[in-house]
This record gives sequence, C-alpha cells and structure tokens, in this order.
Amino acid sequence: MTVRSSFVVVANRLPVDEITTSEGRQWRPSPGGLVTALHPVLAQYRGTWVGWSGGVGEAPEPFDLEGIRLHPVPLSADELERYYEGQSNATIWPLYHDAVETPVFKRRWREAYRTVNARFAEAAAEVAAEGATVWVQDYQLQLVPAMLRELRPDLRIGFFLHIPFPPIELFMQMPLRAEVLRGLLGADLVGFQQRLAAQNFVRLARHLLGLRYEGQTIIVDGRRVKAGAFPISIDVAEMERMAADPQVQARAKQIRAELGDPKTVVLGVDRLDYTKGIERRLKAFRELLADGKLSVPDAVMVQVATPSRERVEHYQALRVKVEREVGRINGEFGRVGVPAVHYLHQSYSRSELAALYCAADVMMVTPLRDGMNLVAKEYVASRADTGGALVLSEFAGAATELRQAFLCNPHDPDGVKDALLRAVHVDKVEARRRMRIMQRHLRAHDVGQWARSFLNELGVPEAT
Ligand code: ADP
Ligand code: F6P
Repeated sequence: MTVRSSFVVVANRLPVDEITTSEGRQWRPSPGGLVTALHPVLAQYRGTWVGWSGGVGEAPEPFDLEGIRLHPVPLSADELERYYEGQSNATIWPLYHDAVETPVFKRRWREAYRTVNARFAEAAAEVAAEGATVWVQDYQLQLVPAMLRELRPDLRIGFFLHIPFPPIELFMQMPLRAEVLRGLLGADLVGFQQRLAAQNFVRLARHLLGLRYEGQTIIVDGRRVKAGAFPISIDVAEMERMAADPQVQARAKQIRAELGDPKTVVLGVDRLDYTKGIERRLKAFRELLADGKLSVPDAVMVQVATPSRERVEHYQALRVKVEREVGRINGEFGRVGVPAVHYLHQSYSRSELAALYCAADVMMVTPLRDGMNLVAKEYVASRADTGGALVLSEFAGAATELRQAFLCNPHDPDGVKDALLRAVHVDKVEARRRMRIMQRHLRAHDVGQWARSFLNELGVPEAT
C-alpha cells in the first residue's frame, strides 16, 4: 500500500545508494552536498524522499530509513546513460557552471530527460497527500514542477537549485531552454544559492517568455511564482559534535603521525569534478615547491577525490589529468616513503572526513564555479579549536558568507599560490579571529535555518 505524506522531497538521488556485494544488496550513503544538506531536514519533517536508488532496472520496494520513507524511482541502463550521464551531467552541469567544460547537446538525451522527469513527477503525485508540500531538488529535475502541477494542482510546490543558475547568454544555448524555464515556473517558489542567480532567472522569464514580473515575483497565467536566494548550509551542531569526539580527535592525531608529523598539512576534499579546480590547486602546490617557498617533508598535501560520474567523458579525462599531475609532483618532490601529495580516490565515512579536517592546517577549496560548496562550511564548523585556515575560491557560493577565508581567484595561479602561502604563514591569533567570525556566522545560518526560511516563504508550517 502506498504511504501518502504531507511533506515530500523529490531529488535525483536517494540519500543511500544500492550496492550489490557478495552478501547481497546493501545500502551506503550517497555522495554530494544535496544529500548532506537534506538528510537532517527530512528526518525532522518526517516526510517521503522520492529518488533514484543508484542501480539500474526495477526499483526496490519503498522502505523506511531513520524515520524517512524512501520511495525509489527506477532508471533503465539506457536512461542512466541519456538522462543522468548525458542531459544532466554532460549538457546542463557544464552549461550551468559557466561552461568551464564545453556542454554537449544531443537530441536523444533530451527525450530521456523528459521521460524520466515525467516518471519522477508521477511518483511524487502518487505519494503526496491532498494539499501536501512537494519540494523538488536540483538541475536533473527541472521539468518536474510543471509536470507535477498538471497532475496535482492541489499541491504546494517548491524547487531549489543547488548549482549556479547561468546568465541569460549561456542559458540561451540550451535547445530545451523554453521547456526547462516553463518546467521551473510550475513551482510556487524557485530557490537559488545566490541573489544574482535569482535575478538571472527573473530576467530570463521576461527575455525568453515575455513574462511580467514585480520585484522577484513572476506572473505566469495569473499565478505568482516567487524567486529568491536561500544559501544552503550544513548541520553545524552535528559537525561540531563529531569533530569534538575524542575518537575523531585521536584519529586526527594519528593521521598527522602517519603523514610524518609535518609542520603543514594542506587538504583538499572534493568529488572528482572539473568544476572543483583540483588540477589548478595541485599546480599551485607544485610551483610553490619548485620555487622553494614550501618544501617536503615540512609541508605535505592530502587530496581526497571522491569517485563521481565515472562514465562521463569529461570526468574520465579529468581523472587522467589529476593523476598525471600527482605523479609529476611526487616524482619531482617526493622521497622514498615521503610523497609530497597523498592522493585518495575513495569515499569516506563522515567521522573519517571530520578527522581529516581536524588534521589539516590549511584547507583548499578552489572551485572554478560552485553553487555553494559544503566542504568549506564543514571544515570551518569542525575547527571549534579555532585552528586551521581556509583558502576559498571567490567563485564558490560559500565565498559570499565566509569572507574571512583567504579568498582567491582560481583562474589566477599566482593568486592561488599567494592565498595558500598567506594561509600557511598566518599567525595564530589572526587565524583564530578569522575562524571565530566564520563559525559564528555558520551557527546562525545552519541547514535548519536554510530549510525553515525556504519553507516559510513557501507558506509551510514549521515542523514540530
Ligand atoms: P557537491 O555537492 O558538488 O559534491 P559539496 O562540497 O557541496 O559539493 O558537498 C560535498 C559533500 O560530499 C560534503 O558533505 C562532503 O563531506 C561529502 N564528501 C566529499 N568527499 C567525500 C568522500 N570522499 N567521502 C565521503 N563524503 C564525501
Ligand atoms: O548539487 C550537486 C549535485 O549534483 C547533487 O545534485 C548530487 O546529489 C551531487 O552533486 C552528487 O552528484 P551525483 O548525484 O551525480 O553523484
């Protein structure tokens, strides 16, 4: 029997991925910022999460996990290739990230995007109770709001885009542009990470569809669709608790010892994605070693690169480039038993990540473009000891809030090197001052506050 909920989240991925091992089917946490942010929100609202389970073929039956009802949506192998790897991650993802890689446009991908979006809309329509709130997430599902409104006009529909929304000139390249825009306008409230993105959207509605707007509200067939900025965040209290855990602290010490107790541990943690600027960061580290401004073993770098979208060409090419650069740095500057860069192409538990954050003197977050970047916020929240320093790209959404980071332009190699050196050599008092201000900001702007502000604007009563 289908369980109907008054609060439904629809996202491409469920918070867990299905994996098949020798012991049969198992579930493990799925990657990415969306899941990190939404998991605590849904646990509080006790709703249903509609999403893909990460496998192909028939979907598993709906099940409950930590108070959340999970409703899997199936994808065939062909849809995985065309909807997920193609239209979502080779067309829309690069286009919305300033085209830092060239977007690929294919007709057959667009058809699959429509079909799969319709399937998600139908699944949401099935599990939503009369008058429910449905909150649709991210670029993979931009057609869902309008499709869902068509099926269920009684629902209150919100949409949140986790990634940047491009300027008009870039958006206009997309063959599916009018359909995507109409899809989003099916929502009552469309949320973005940044004010500028919301402005791009409102202007686009006039430019492309000739729609009238008043402030941030677009008038569509007599309906009012609001647009706004709602910068996403993390569960700050949970991160602080985890980082303060004596086991995590002991593990952090052990990590430093395993690295040879260097003076400076520089850390990067990202999905292996070309938007994250991993190559440029490595290059900056290499040039500082070559210039003699840093040296091994006093300084070592740890780069965690979580496997991501591994069958998409752009990602395969990136992996080759990153691994070549790591090899080059270690070849030139490493010694027997002392590599300059420790490269880890693996997933970790949240507590291991917290230990890595606590072990790092300098955290480098240098995306060429990023909607927000939760790793930057996790690092700051984990350093309640007020140690550590954050180097942060101006092109990450997080830079609007974390102004006391060592900000840099990732397109300027000298700027990145300079920010890294300043972070390495900052005096302790100044580093603490910066960390404290950022931590105060995060405590007042955690993921609970993000969800409340979006849902209040949508007119949803607070969860008790
Ligand atoms: P994106 O959403 O583009 O992946 P974010 O920085 O916003 O980028 O979010 C990434 C999330 O994934 C963070 O919560 C981070 O802790 C988590 N994460 C990153 N790398 C790993 C890893 N190797 N193992 C487990 N979690 C990871
Ligand atoms: O917001 C960024 C995002 O694309 C999420 O939608 C997604 O869950 C996460 O990154 C990880 O990507 P993927 O689901 O393609 O592995």
